[in-house]
Amino acid sequence: MPNWKMPKVLTSEITPKDVYRQRREFMRLAAGTALGVALPSHLIAGEKLPTLVKSAYELPDKLTPFEDVTHYNNYYEFGTDKESPAQQAGSLKTRPWTVTVEGEVRNPKVWDIDSLMKLAALEERVYRLRCVEAWSMVIPWVGFPLAELIKRAEPTGNAKFVEFTTLNDPIQMPGVNSPVLDWPYREGLRMDEAMHPLTLLTFGLYGEVLPNQNGAPVRIVVPWKYGFKSAKSIVRIKFMEQMPVSSWMKAGPSEYGFYSNVNPSVDHPRWSQAKERRIGDFFKRPSLPFNGYADQVAQLYSGMDLQKNF
Ligand code: MTE
Repeated sequence: MPNWKMPKVLTSEITPKDVYRQRREFMRLAAGTALGVALPSHLIAGEKLPTLVKSAYELPDKLTPFEDVTHYNNYYEFGTDKESPAQQAGSLKTRPWTVTVEGEVRNPKVWDIDSLMKLAALEERVYRLRCVEAWSMVIPWVGFPLAELIKRAEPTGNAKFVEFTTLNDPIQMPGVNSPVLDWPYREGLRMDEAMHPLTLLTFGLYGEVLPNQNGAPVRIVVPWKYGFKSAKSIVRIKFMEQMPVSSWMKAGPSEYGFYSNVNPSVDHPRWSQAKERRIGDFFKRPSLPFNGYADQVAQLYSGMDLQKNF
C-alpha cells in the first residue's frame, strides 16, 4: 500500500471562518469521546456533527467557502441549474430514511439512517471535488469509509461491483418529472474502488449535517473521480456480479464511461478536461490525473487502457 498521508495542515489554519475555527475546537474536544455517546439520536441539516476522529486526510488547498459549496450544486432531481438545488431541495424529507443493503451479500440489511451514522467513527476529510464541467471545489466532508459498511454486509465471491441508487420521489423532487436522466439516479463502483479507504460514506460537510442540496442524509464521495460518481441522498446499495449501468452512461455512453477517473488527457467529447476552474478563482489551473490522488489510487488501474476505460 502506498503512503496515505496527506500534508498536515489544519483546516483551521487555512479557512478565514471564525465560526469554523470554533467548530474545530468543539470537534477536538469531542474526539476521544466514546463512539455513540457524542452523537445525538437525530440530527437535521445545519446541526453540528461531532467529528470523533481526527483524520489524516487534510490538504494544503484553500477551502471553498461554505456559501459556494452549498449554493453552486449539481442535483438534477432539483433542477439542472446550479442555483436550483439550494432553492428547491428544502422540500426533501430526510427522516425517516433507510438505506437498503442488498444483492450479493451474506448480510443484507435495511439500515435506519441514524443507526447507519453511528456504525463507525466520523472523521472530517478535506477532499477535492472535480466536476466533469471543469470546475472544482475543496470541501471538508464528514463521514466514514464505505468499507466499514461493506465489511459488515459480508459480500459474497460474486460481488464484483456496487450500485448506489438515489431516492426517486416526484412529489419531493420536481426534477424527476423531466426526462433529462433515467431516474432514479444510479451510479456504481468496482468492488476495489468501493473498498478503497478514500471512498467516503458522507453525512456532513463543514462540521454540519449535510444540507439537502449536497445530498442529505447520506451520499458517497469518491474524490479521484468526476463529481457525478458521488451519488447523493442514497436509499440503496446493491452488490452485483455485472457492471451496473449508471444514469449518465445511459444518457450519453460516448460521453460518460463507467470509470470516470479524473483524467486531463482524455477529453469529454464536447470540451477539454485538461484544466479546471476552482470556484472562487479567476484563472484556470491544470487538472491532475486522478484529481491529485494518483499516489493512492493509480495502482487500482494498472494494466488498463485509461483512454478506452474512461
Ligand atoms: N447525485 C444525484 N442524485 N443527482 C445529481 O444530479 N450530481 C452529481 C453528484 N451527485 C448528482 C448527484 C454531480 S454532476 C456532481 S458534480 C456532484 O454531485 C456535486 O455535488 P455537490 O453539489 O455537493 O458539490
